[in-house]
Amino acid sequence: MVDELTEYRGRCNVLIFEDNKGMTDFMVDKWKSLSNDAFGGQGIFTAALSGGNTPRDFYVALAGLTDEGMWRKAHVFMVDERYVPPTDSDSNYGMLSRLLLDKVPIPAGNRHPVPVQEKTLEKTAENYEAAIRTFFRLGKQEFPQFDLIMLGLGEDGHTASLFPSQDALKEREHLVYPVRKAPKAHARVTLTLPVINHARNVVFLVTGREKAAAAKGVLEERDPALPAFMIRPETGNLSFLLDRAAASLLSAEFQHNCGTVT
Ligand code: 6PG
Repeated sequence: MVDELTEYRGRCNVLIFEDNKGMTDFMVDKWKSLSNDAFGGQGIFTAALSGGNTPRDFYVALAGLTDEGMWRKAHVFMVDERYVPPTDSDSNYGMLSRLLLDKVPIPAGNRHPVPVQEKTLEKTAENYEAAIRTFFRLGKQEFPQFDLIMLGLGEDGHTASLFPSQDALKEREHLVYPVRKAPKAHARVTLTLPVINHARNVVFLVTGREKAAAAKGVLEERDPALPAFMIRPETGNLSFLLDRAAASLLSAEFQHNCGTVT
């Protein structure tokens, strides 16, 4: 099924799925193939994963992959985090741990949570950035190249914790930014635009009718004010995986040019 789509994906990295299961299966396959590719190269696979509701089914499905060799080489980071302890029901890392990380044989050292135990939000961002710099052995002005960054889309066009009109969008040097005034619950820390745009593969998962206007704004209207529209990997691949509801406002012509997975 995936092979049939290769031609479409070459032109337009937007795939529309009939149901959540199709999207989830596709993402699990993608994880497997990206991690295999990465192992061939440097021997590790680095992924930064998002919170929110959309990716939960994917995390549950991924927990079904129990290959110890794969998990030994996988390093999992967070795209963004709410400034709450991991035991809080709003913690992205808490959710990811419960659904995925606690269920698979991933070594403790391969889990890279945001250090929310720090006294301030700024220190949290600073230490998360330092941890990423150390892990990727980055020089001063270098950015990490994650093998995979998985993103969600907010109704206002935000992605990660990069919200419309906020200063975080202007950051060009730091890897991580403290977001004090998020228009959603909790202060947060987020990976910055240049980090996301240096990734080898960026995949958006977008589901539900309430995301349809934002999806149209990003994909078809190409609204430059929407943070998700600012995600343009410099050399990496960008894919949007949408369900029918999230794709419902895209014109028939646009949909025709997208891959459709039934
Ligand atoms: C978070 C996220 C955020 C999320 C979008 C979509 O911490 O909330 O990382 O960027 O991906 O808000 O959220 P839903 O998937 O819950 O709609």
